[in-house]
Amino acid sequence: MIGKLNHVAIVVPDLTDAARIYRDTLGANVSAPEDLPEHGVTTIFVNLPNTKIELLHPLGEDSPIARFLEKNPSGGMHHVCYEVEDILAARDRLRADGARVLGDGEPRTGAHGKPVLFLHPKDFCGTLIELEEV
Ligand code: CO
Repeated sequence: MIGKLNHVAIVVPDLTDAARIYRDTLGANVSAPEDLPEHGVTTIFVNLPNTKIELLHPLGEDSPIARFLEKNPSGGMHHVCYEVEDILAARDRLRADGARVLGDGEPRTGAHGKPVLFLHPKDFCGTLIELEEV
């Protein structure tokens, strides 16, 4: 059911520093920061030949990643995003199998303007999974 790895997301305490590390130290192609107020994050994308790294930093008061950064002050891996062809079919299949879909289970528009859902880490080897319809 899942297809390509779309991105790995890393929460970082300092976006400028993280961009510098990926651009200058690791020699990667790094995008400009983009604020996504509806998601409570600022993102930078690192474009690799076969996938992307999404650098995330909290934006605003109620950022969903603020607590993650409190618990992981140096930052850390936050989620992996897999592509699916039909997000509603994927959701229904996962639910039928007993997996928990976060929120109200309705897809939201993600960082790339495509529908996304998140799956409970306890049902997936301790890793938060984002599904993105492509
Ligand atoms: Co993501």
